Amino acid sequence: MTSKRKEKPTPVKKVPTKATKKTSANNKAVTLREDPTPYRFNTTAVIPKEQGTNPDALRFIDLFCGIGGFRIAFEKIGGKCVFSSDYDKFSQQTYEANFGELPHGDIHTVTVADIPAHDVLCGGFPCQPFSIAGVSKKNSLGRLHGFDDAKQGNLFFSIAAIIDFHRPAAFVLENVKNLKGHDKGKTFEVIYRTLTEELGYTVYTKIIDAKSVVPQHRERIFLVGFREWRDFEFPKFPEEGPKLGSILEPKPEPKYTLTDHLWTYLQNYAAKHKAAGNGFGFGLVTGLDTTRTLSARYHKDGSEILIAQKGKNPRRLTPRECARLMGYPETYKLVVSDTQAYRQFGNSVVVPVVEKLAKAVKTALKRPAGEAADLVLRDQNQPIKIVTDLPHKPVKYPQKLNKRKVSSK
Ligand SMILES: C[S@@+](CC[C@H](N)C(=O)[O-])C[C@H]1O[C@@H](n2cnc3c(N)ncnc32)[C@H](O)[C@@H]1O
Repeated sequence: MTSKRKEKPTPVKKVPTKATKKTSANNKAVTLREDPTPYRFNTTAVIPKEQGTNPDALRFIDLFCGIGGFRIAFEKIGGKCVFSSDYDKFSQQTYEANFGELPHGDIHTVTVADIPAHDVLCGGFPCQPFSIAGVSKKNSLGRLHGFDDAKQGNLFFSIAAIIDFHRPAAFVLENVKNLKGHDKGKTFEVIYRTLTEELGYTVYTKIIDAKSVVPQHRERIFLVGFREWRDFEFPKFPEEGPKLGSILEPKPEPKYTLTDHLWTYLQNYAAKHKAAGNGFGFGLVTGLDTTRTLSARYHKDGSEILIAQKGKNPRRLTPRECARLMGYPETYKLVVSDTQAYRQFGNSVVVPVVEKLAKAVKTALKRPAGEAADLVLRDQNQPIKIVTDLPHKPVKYPQKLNKRKVSSK
């Protein structure tokens, strides 16, 4: 589809800068923003970069890259990473050890125009303000959360500003399942409307449980967007997945077995909460099971996933087992402390899930955009649908999408 917006993009409004510092693998100078002032969407700008998009060699950027779950997946389908960013120094260490590239730091310190042109934007943006655990934690401290949390909530708008400026052919965003329910659905609505109405992308959303590809129950929401309308289908996942036994080490070091003190504490804690009618206890599993979700807090007591052992106290997973539980390859280097490794894998994406998504995005980008997909569907005498399992009222789509009879489901 040819975009109607023809003007050259006006550059992103530059904010006053304080200093310039050297960071990143290629020591490229990036501008420090004094203050991440609210970004104004440059809705008249277009950069129809479709000419440069080659689905067989997608250029992608890895935002909030953590330890590179998105990167492994997109590289597996032939993609080339052209930019990465994460401000956590331990994640940067792991990333550098595995990909030979030190990610740029805080996304607020990067000028949007300095980010290279790309075909796909990937980002598992920080989920704490939106996760159930994060929300209740912040509430109990009397702090605001979600979009009211200026520090973290704004990160979505950093993504939106990059999409607006670079107009990638597609994006894949990941977040916790609770994103949809946060603040009575308002948070999700702001995100969804920004991506669709403000930025003009066609957005498909789905909650995917990784348990069909790894032995872990891990539900995450994925938002896949296309600059032009694309016939996209979420990949199909098998009903039955592998069991924990397939990833366990035969002889883990004794230090992973719980001490008597911790095991007694966890049992007492669970009993107390059970008596009070709460379901929060430890999760004891065997090789025949699927685990609960590995969290970034696993290093604290490991209580959500404890492996039963004959004649001994249960043990926690080793970092290598966590890597496997997240679908990382055996060749993936673990270079940080156990504490950091648990945190990094608990924050990550399940690689085979993203790999399947990446393949589906590539397939969609190979299909004709806009009108052509329209024709296929018209032949089938079906209206075009934006595939979304949104529970709340449909948003109004911009005129150009309405013309193509877009409806939400
Ligand atoms: C949910 S994790 C994403 C993990 C990643 N998808 C992976 O596969 O490992 C979110 C990441 O965002 C990073 N982050 C948070 N705020 C940031 C900021 N302002 N700039 C850059 N990175 C940030 C955190 O350090 C964390 O690694």
